[in-house]
Amino acid sequence: MQIMKTKYLVTTVALLALAYSLAFAYDPSPLQDFCVAVKDPASAFLQGPKLASANDFFFLGLNVPRDTSNPLGSNVTTVNVDNLVGLNTLGISLARVDFAPYGLNPPHIHPRGTEFLIVLEGTLYVGFVMSNGDGNRLFTKMLYPGDVFVFPIGLIHFQLNVGKTNAVAFAGLSSQNPGVIIIANAVFRSDPKIKPNVLAKDFQVDKNLVEHLQKQLWWDNN
Ligand SMILES: *[C@@H]1O[C@H](CO)[C@@H](O)[C@H](O)[C@H]1NC(C)=O
Repeated sequence: MQIMKTKYLVTTVALLALAYSLAFAYDPSPLQDFCVAVKDPASAFLQGPKLASANDFFFLGLNVPRDTSNPLGSNVTTVNVDNLVGLNTLGISLARVDFAPYGLNPPHIHPRGTEFLIVLEGTLYVGFVMSNGDGNRLFTKMLYPGDVFVFPIGLIHFQLNVGKTNAVAFAGLSSQNPGVIIIANAVFRSDPKIKPNVLAKDFQVDKNLVEHLQKQLWWDNN
């Protein structure tokens, strides 16, 4: 009797653990070699493995520097399931980040992916901020060619080119669709706008300053 009870308990715990992992899972274990997405969502979402070809797993041109002549002085080229359909269900993506001298990849979040960054050229001052519960500790580092830095999933992070020359970095992200939320854009350029008195109280500034900020052109470097 006692043994039976233990068995039930073990089964229940195992089931609960499974339900828990399903409920919080994303970019799940693929269960097949691959599951190529199709570009036209109106037709069907997936393409059978027999119809897949090498081009579904191919992307070219990441050697080409991007145009950084924008107000931020940076340009992010993302390679994710949207433009490389073979990544579907595989839990990984990548980006090339170009920086003009003193260019900034502004404070942002990837809601679904941890990122690691490898610097190929230039000098980057990078950092991320921990959650409130951890005192919003700031971690920063100066990165030189060959250096790698990790930005944990969901934390605000940034990269600034502190050099007089262009900088280039590549990033790997632990999601086929990590997403990006640039903090300034989300706060000051939402559509429709957040009521100025909300932001005035939050940032402890005058409503006029908030309205001024909401009128600025908040660049999206992605
Ligand atoms: C990034 O560069 C490409 C080509 O170099 C350009 O077409 C694109 O508009 C640039 N994006 C931004 C956000 O500046």
